[in-house]
Amino acid sequence: MVNEIDQYLITKDTGFYVDCTFGGGGHSLFVLNKYKNIKIIAFDQDTDSLKRFNENSDLQKFKDRIIFCHDNFRNIKENLQKLNIEKVNGLLADLGVSSKQLDDKTRGFSFNSDDFLDMRMNKEQDLTAYDVVNTFSKDKLQDIFFKYGEESFSKQIAQKIVEERLKGNIKTCNQLKDIICKVKWSKGKINPATQIFQALRIFVNDELGSLQDLLNSISDVLDIGARAAFLTYHSLEDRLVKQSFKEDENLKIINKKVITACEEEIKTNPRSRSAKLRVAEKIL
Ligand SMILES: C[S@@+](CC[C@H](N)C(=O)[O-])C[C@H]1O[C@@H](n2cnc3c(N)ncnc32)[C@H](O)[C@@H]1O
Repeated sequence: MVNEIDQYLITKDTGFYVDCTFGGGGHSLFVLNKYKNIKIIAFDQDTDSLKRFNENSDLQKFKDRIIFCHDNFRNIKENLQKLNIEKVNGLLADLGVSSKQLDDKTRGFSFNSDDFLDMRMNKEQDLTAYDVVNTFSKDKLQDIFFKYGEESFSKQIAQKIVEERLKGNIKTCNQLKDIICKVKWSKGKINPATQIFQALRIFVNDELGSLQDLLNSISDVLDIGARAAFLTYHSLEDRLVKQSFKEDENLKIINKKVITACEEEIKTNPRSRSAKLRVAEKIL
């Protein structure tokens, strides 16, 4: 949703903008190409993103206008302080995992694979999905599945996992998917394991905790008149953004109705089908 980001986020064509979720750098690259006087502070907690930034010649052309912070975006204030940047002219967060992370066979995000059950965005973190699935109690698993996957079979799936792991550790994504499919059958096109994989990923990466910390920081880092744009991909994230914008008296909501991708974009980028864009402006 590059055009929508351009239209709603960029209020000044100079100064610093923060890309909280650099990924492959698509959004940053668009802004850097179009606005010659904008500089970007780019965050990503995944070292693969930093590697891509260092190795991609299109991005390296702009290395004087990008500062890369290999950190969780929840630490935005500390990072900006270190860089002596008081306020920024805009902030973008395109949440979740990138298609590169989903496709990478070593990362364990995708349920149709024999990948190790990893699911860490930050490879330097200790906790993996394997640890959660193989060591957490039945009640804790049920709680995670219900809270972060809104899975109605949470109890039965947690029970089945605990039974199955007595036979040997559950190591791969396919093993876990097969266990889930013993309890829950496929309805239509959506894989029965989708919500459990989403729940594990959110828990392992503390995605909602990081998002809340970022939301709590935005009015401190934005200049007056600057905007924050959040692209969310599931209802838990969207609810958090909507609520936080509403409660922050320093912000004015720019779009009461969420902005979604156009049909044309959905055709070329199916992931954009579930994207919701919310934008707020710092007013006080
Ligand atoms: C959907 S992708 C962003 C894609 C990017 N907009 C592009 O154009 O290529 C999300 C990226 O944000 C990173 N990410 C997610 N949560 C993060 C967090 N809390 N802190 C830092 N990076 C995060 C992920 O590692 C991933 O690379």
